[in-house]
Amino acid sequence: ALPYIYEDTELRDEPLSGDPIPATDYWYLHHIYTKDLIENYELVQVWRDYFDEYNAKTNDGVERIIITEGFADVSLMCLYYNYGAHVPFNFLFIRNDSVAFNAETLSPAGIKNNIDQWLNCVPEGGTPNWVIGNHDRPRMATRFGSEKLDMLNFVLLLLPGVMTVYNGDEIGMTDTYLTWEETEDPQACTTDPGRYQPYSRDPARTPFQWDDSTSAGFSTNTTVYLKVNEKYRTLNLAAQKAADKSHYKNFQAVMKLRNTTVAKDGALKTLVIGEDVFAMSRELDGHDPLLVVINWSKSPVTVSLDDFSNFSEKLQVLASDVNNDLKVGDTVSRSSITLQGNAALIIT
Ligand SMILES: *[C@@H]1O[C@H](CO)[C@@H](O)[C@H](O)[C@H]1NC(C)=O
Ligand SMILES: *[C@@H]1O[C@H](CO)[C@@H](O)[C@H](O)[C@H]1NC(C)=O
Ligand SMILES: *[C@@H]1O[C@H](CO)[C@@H](O)[C@H](O)[C@H]1NC(C)=O
Ligand SMILES: *[C@@H]1O[C@H](CO)[C@@H](O)[C@H](O)[C@H]1NC(C)=O
Ligand SMILES: *[C@@H]1O[C@H](CO)[C@@H](O)[C@H](O)[C@H]1NC(C)=O
Repeated sequence: ALPYIYEDTELRDEPLSGDPIPATDYWYLHHIYTKDLIENYELVQVWRDYFDEYNAKTNDGVERIIITEGFADVSLMCLYYNYGAHVPFNFLFIRNDSVAFNAETLSPAGIKNNIDQWLNCVPEGGTPNWVIGNHDRPRMATRFGSEKLDMLNFVLLLLPGVMTVYNGDEIGMTDTYLTWEETEDPQACTTDPGRYQPYSRDPARTPFQWDDSTSAGFSTNTTVYLKVNEKYRTLNLAAQKAADKSHYKNFQAVMKLRNTTVAKDGALKTLVIGEDVFAMSRELDGHDPLLVVINWSKSPVTVSLDDFSNFSEKLQVLASDVNNDLKVGDTVSRSSITLQGNAALIIT
C-alpha cells in the first residue's frame, strides 16, 4: 500500500469525488493529498540505496529485490522503476483507469494495448511485470470465466519479465459468496449489509483447495476463518494432479517452457488478428521459437499466422487449453489454423 504512506503536510481537505455514496466511504473524496505523493517515491529510492549498500557490504551472492505495490495510473505505477524499484507491480490486466477487466471488457486488442503500454514505460534494462490476479480483486476464473484461464496464463507466463499469480488462480478457484455475518474484511465491515459486497475482498480470500477432505485440506478443523468454497470437492489441487488434463498441469507445462532461453531472452512480437484472435511470438536465433495463439470468442475461427514469417508452415502443439481437441505433439499449419471457441495454443 505504498501510495498511501505520505500525506500533505498542510493537511488540506480533499475535493469531493461527486460519487453518490456516504461521506464515510473512501471514494467519497478525491484523494489528491493522501495518495501518490512524490515523497512515497523518494522513500523507495532511500530503501534502494540501502539495499545496494547492504549488498555491497555483505557480498554474499544473494539477490535482494524490491517489489512495489501501488495501485495507480500506469504512469504512476511505472514511475517506481525510476525510483529504485526492481519490479513495480503492473496492475494493467486488473484495471485500466475506470475499466475493471473481465471477459467482456478485455479483448485481444486490449491485451495487446496493455502489453504495449507497460513495455513502453519500462525503462531500458528494467524487468517488466504482469499481474493477472491478486488478493484485492475477484479471482481470475470469476472475472474471466474458467474457460479463459489457460489463455491468459499462456500469454502472461510467456511474456518477458516477472509474472505474478495469486494462489489458487493456477487451478481456477472461484470467488466464494459470504453473507454479511460471515464477512471479515474491514473494508466491507465498515459499510452495511445492503452494500458490503463490492467492498469485500473476502470472496477471493477463502482457503486454498488442496483436496476433497475436511476444509479442503487447509485445516483439520471444520471451522476456518473464511468458509471453504463449496466447489472444493471437485475443484482442488489433488484432483487436478490426478487428471489427464487440467489447469494445474497446463500451468506446470508452461512454467517449463518459461524456463527456456527463448522465453527468457527472445524477441517479443504481438499481433491482433481480426476481432477475436491474439497471437504472440518469442524468437531467438538458434532456438526453437514459441508462438501463443488464443481465440477470445466463443465461436471457432480460422486464421493465418503468416505474419509470423520466421515460423515454418508445419507447426507443433506444445500446450493446449483444457477444453481443446488438439493435443501436445499434434501438427497445425501456419497459413490456416482453426481455433475452437476460447482456444489457447502454444506451438513451435
Ligand atoms: C487503457 O488506457 C489507455 C490510456 O488511457 C487507453 O488509450 C486505452 O484505450 C485503454 N484500454 C482499454 C482496453 O480500456
Ligand atoms: C476449531 O475452530 C474453532 C473456531 O476457530 C475453535 O473454537 C476450536 O477450538 C477449533 N478446534 C480445534 C480442535 O482446534
Ligand atoms: C530451469 O532449467 C534449469 C536448467 O536449464 C534447471 O536447472 C531448473 O531446475 C529449471 N527450473 C524449473 C523451475 O523448471
Ligand atoms: C526473424 O528472423 C530474422 C532473421 O534471423 C530476425 O532478424 C527477425 O528479428 C526475426 N523476427 C522476429 C519477429 O523475431
Ligand atoms: C473462436 O472460437 C469460436 C467459437 O468456437 C469460433 O466460431 C471461431 O471460428 C474461433 N476463431 C478462431 C480464429 O479459431
